[in-house]
Amino acid sequence: MSALPGSAEGTAVTGLDSSPVQPAPVDLPPLPDQARLEAREIIARYPQPRSALLPMLHLVQSYQGYVSPEGVALCAEELGLTKAEVGAVATFYTMYKRRPTGRHLVSVCTNTLCSVLGGQRIMDALSADLGVHHDETAADGSITLEHAECLAACDYAPVVTVDYEFYDQQDVASARELVAALRRGDKPSPTRGAPLTDFRGVSRQLAGFSQYEDPYDMAAAIDAPSSLGPTLAGLRLAEERGEAAPPMPTPGTPARDAQEPRDTVAPSGRTGQTPGQEAADARVAAADTPAEEAGAAGSHPDAPEPAGRRLPDGRAGTDTPAGSEPGTSGQGPGKA
Ligand code: FES
Repeated sequence: MSALPGSAEGTAVTGLDSSPVQPAPVDLPPLPDQARLEAREIIARYPQPRSALLPMLHLVQSYQGYVSPEGVALCAEELGLTKAEVGAVATFYTMYKRRPTGRHLVSVCTNTLCSVLGGQRIMDALSADLGVHHDETAADGSITLEHAECLAACDYAPVVTVDYEFYDQQDVASARELVAALRRGDKPSPTRGAPLTDFRGVSRQLAGFSQYEDPYDMAAAIDAPSSLGPTLAGLRLAEERGEAAPPMPTPGTPARDAQEPRDTVAPSGRTGQTPGQEAADARVAAADTPAEEAGAAGSHPDAPEPAGRRLPDGRAGTDTPAGSEPGTSGQGPGKA
């Protein structure tokens, strides 16, 4: 990929965007006093004020549709940070937008599995329909379109999200219809999870403010039946292989070191193993072919160190003699 860092394509591929926060459009209403009060409410949730910065940035987006210069200044003032420090955080995460966002944010997964199954074709079709590329907003302000990296729903690929709600197993036709409905002002039900709101609404949720006054209404909305069940492929695979996460420590008891041997009997029948050893035993036992078994055995924590890792003179440690690392030319021991 030859895209330059900071270009639209480079941003899509790397997630990094070096462009600055865009000045506020002339018609953008200023942040209301309520925003500052809510920012203080967020700060009060944390022992350290600066821990509140991430939800505060979502709060700014919920009012102005992006992390505006005014929002950066508000966060800096309230947290005692510099605007540069706030900007450094806001420009690190792709969920913080540096240009005003449309009513809905449509994210198309173009990572490997989705792409193979049609994700890039969906992105191309929506891009043509909307007349925009990655991270651009349609002229009518309805949709901001973006590429997304893996959205963690590969078993339902190709996946599109709208305002971070899932629309699974899309194809070009269904994605086009979805976007056309959004532009008409409809809010089609996601295939899983909470009902669709809009970019500002979900930003408010991410700031920790629910649009549901009654917690039971909120739980009912989030737990509403989905047309597709939860993504359980990983869980089923783990069950087949006898793999399990280490138990959660009980409150009040010291957490166990993950490397501390356990008293339990592993699927292999061995005892006194670490969770990593147990999982590795299970991978070896579950291998279907000699090649898989060799691979699993090779990555086992008990596997002997490959011969190639030993230095010719038998020394342990770095393979690079001190003083000859890149950038230290002429500074090593014995050199003038
Ligand atoms: S590759 Fe698209 S959800 Fe994982």
